[in-house]
Formats: sequence, C-alpha cells, structure tokens
Amino acid sequence: GIAQVVGMARGFARDEPLVVCLGDNIFENAQAAAVASWQDGALVFVKEVPDPENFGVVVYDDGGGVADLVEKAGVVDTRYAAPPTSDAVVGLYCYPPDVFDIIDGLAPSSRGELEITDVNREYARQGRLSVRRVEGWWHDGGKHWSDLADVGRRIEETGVNK
Ligand code: G1P
Repeated sequence: GIAQVVGMARGFARDEPLVVCLGDNIFENAQAAAVASWQDGALVFVKEVPDPENFGVVVYDDGGGVADLVEKAGVVDTRYAAPPTSDAVVGLYCYPPDVFDIIDGLAPSSRGELEITDVNREYARQGRLSVRRVEGWWHDGGKHWSDLADVGRRIEETGVNK
C-alpha cells in the first residue's frame, strides 16, 4: 500500500518534512503556493468527485473540521456502506518527520495494505491534519486506461503542473 511505500522513504527524508505525490495523479496546477505555506502537522488536498467510492474521502464535523477519513467506503472501510462525502483525498500529501512513527504503528487494512488514509486519520485524531481544496483540475490516471486520451487533450488545452 501507499503508506508502506512512504515508509521506505525514511532514509531519503532524513528527519525533514516530506511531500508525497502519487505518480498516477495529474494536476493542472502544482499547488505550489499551498505546499509552500504549509507549516505544522500534515496537509492533504481534496477535490469533489462523482465517484467517491473509488477514493479516500474526508468527513467534516459541524465546525468544518475533519471528523474522519474513509478509504473506499463499503469495500476497504466497511464502517460505512457508502461514501459519507464526495470530497476525495487526492494523491498529494505533506507530512512532518513523525509520519514514519505513525506508519510503524499501522496494521494492514481489509485489502491487506498499509493505507495512507489510516495515516491521515491518525493526524486528524491528533488534531494535526489540514485540508486544502485542489486548485484547477485533477485526475487519477490510475483508474481507467480509457480516460487517458481525454486527459491528454486536457493537458494540451490548459497545460499541466503549472
Ligand atoms: C489511493 C488512496 C486513496 C486516494 C487515491 C487518490 O487510491 O488509497 O485514498 O483517494 O489514491 O488517487 P488507490 O490508488 O488505492 O486507488
């Protein structure tokens, strides 16, 4: 799982903050200003999607804070039969150095993976998770190969990683 792979970056991060971007996630904008303004705790990005069952999603409390995170509701996280929100967590994550301690404490999920959503839920539990909305379009290119021609056209139209 993604958290297991992030755990392999311990020697690379060397006790410094770490930004993780999934190679199959394509962003119109690099979110550089948001990442540059990140200070304490962990930072994740969300985008509203029509198919939240295919993603990790954020659940908010009445004050707009993060109440929970749910990975592929009904499939990986069976506490929920259906996704409680449509705000998908995208594959761009900013972590402080203690992310490796959190990963060390994870147990595999129902699909046998160390889930990045479980890392994010632990930061939320500690009150150390910030959520920003993705600026511009975003696409998870790892879902359906048939999307890729459309994504290519979009990149031609708007540019990418701006
Ligand atoms: C992974 C994460 C999921 C996240 C998604 C973003 O999904 O597990 O939380 O919303 O990346 O692209 P997966 O690659 O397992 O489909």
